[in-house]
Amino acid sequence: ARTVRRGPDGALQVGGVPVTALAAEHGTPAYVVDEEDLRARAREWVSAFDDAFAGLCGGADVYYAGKAFLCTAVARWVAEEGMLLETCTGGELAVGLRAGTDPARMALHGNNKSDAEVERALAAGVGRVVLDSRQEVDRVAGIAGRLGVRAPVLLRVTVGVEAHTHSYIATAHEDQKFGVPLAGGEAAAAAAAVLARPELELRGLHSHIGSQIFDVEGFEVAARRLLRLHAQVQREHGVRLPEVDLGGGFGMAYTTQHQPLPARELAAGMARVVAAACAAEGVDVPRVSVEPGRAVVGPSTFTLYTAGTTKDVALDGGASRRYVAVDGGMSDNVRAALYSADYSATLASRRSDAAPLLSRVVGKHCESGDVVVLDEFLPADLGPGDLVAVPGTGAYCRSLASQYNHVPRPPVVAVAGGASRVLLRRETEEDLLALDVG
Ligand code: LLP
Repeated sequence: ARTVRRGPDGALQVGGVPVTALAAEHGTPAYVVDEEDLRARAREWVSAFDDAFAGLCGGADVYYAGKAFLCTAVARWVAEEGMLLETCTGGELAVGLRAGTDPARMALHGNNKSDAEVERALAAGVGRVVLDSRQEVDRVAGIAGRLGVRAPVLLRVTVGVEAHTHSYIATAHEDQKFGVPLAGGEAAAAAAAVLARPELELRGLHSHIGSQIFDVEGFEVAARRLLRLHAQVQREHGVRLPEVDLGGGFGMAYTTQHQPLPARELAAGMARVVAAACAAEGVDVPRVSVEPGRAVVGPSTFTLYTAGTTKDVALDGGASRRYVAVDGGMSDNVRAALYSADYSATLASRRSDAAPLLSRVVGKHCESGDVVVLDEFLPADLGPGDLVAVPGTGAYCRSLASQYNHVPRPPVVAVAGGASRVLLRRETEEDLLALDVG
């Protein structure tokens, strides 16, 4: 978060509010969102892509991928900063609609949308439904026909980008559940099937190659392959597809090891590739869209924990490791357990000159894999009652949170201009018990 700094008392401050005050007011654990930071990133992604594509196709559309984190306030913020909203379930759609997002500026994804989800999206007038399979072509056409609407659709294509050499959360190789394979002419046949259905308006093709990607090359290869198919469909059917969606997946820095490309460089690189590919295929440049989630919201947020029990373990060779248990864990951030994701941690409530000790930040859950930060040097005098901040938890932490061990999910608190407000309240034991109706 951009507005995080140490105050005169040594405590971290965000948006002008000390973490000690946040903990006193909202309790811990809590996700703390720096509103200005999130908005600035949203603005930057929109203007970077709009500028890069202005001369080619009149600009670009930048969807916020709501799966990274969604609540009504964030849906409104990103809309105010010029983003469209990508959803992939009825639930995410409901948040967007509740937030007052213009349905025409929303898209519905999903590899197994229910009829009810499709109906709801079409009835609301959602701007794009992304068809994920050959079967969905007929299913969505049938529902559109029943509702008497013409559904604006994109067709999601798996372009066969191999992700072996990168830590992609890969989605474009062919042996997986998403999309219609480019290989074997399947995607071309699905596009033909869409064009044959009068209830569907084929706006263009879509590709999403994975998540937490740093290398532009994957996006470039995907764009080239997708545009080749785009040109082929246009030639074979004598139509013009007005759009192409290149998906999301742009990496963010969780630790100093990651160096993501600035949005502007990424956009410029992609614009060059799109321009070259369209020229090579002899087609006009369609309007480009992208769908960043993590890169917009991830860096804006840190999780504030209170430290509890600590334990020192002797390691082979005479070294030792300190376990610092915090009052949350894998229920509010499952990414270390699930993806071996790397985070950092810092003593947030005060300054310390104590020697740094190799530490592992762990949670309070009943399993040894309940790790938040695998390795971090934390001051030797860090102990019970100290506040610990784990930055970079805005994406796929609250949205993947569980109530494992009947631990209620933490609140999401926004900070801006010296004040904080709750966006999502803390769950209570009563919330959890209220579900128990047996
Ligand atoms: N568009 C589509 C079609 C997607 O499937 C995704 C992510 C995005 C956009 C946004 O990707 P982003 O820019 O946020 O990387 N739970 C995993 C990530 C799963 C991503 C799923 N799809 C994690 O915590 O790393």
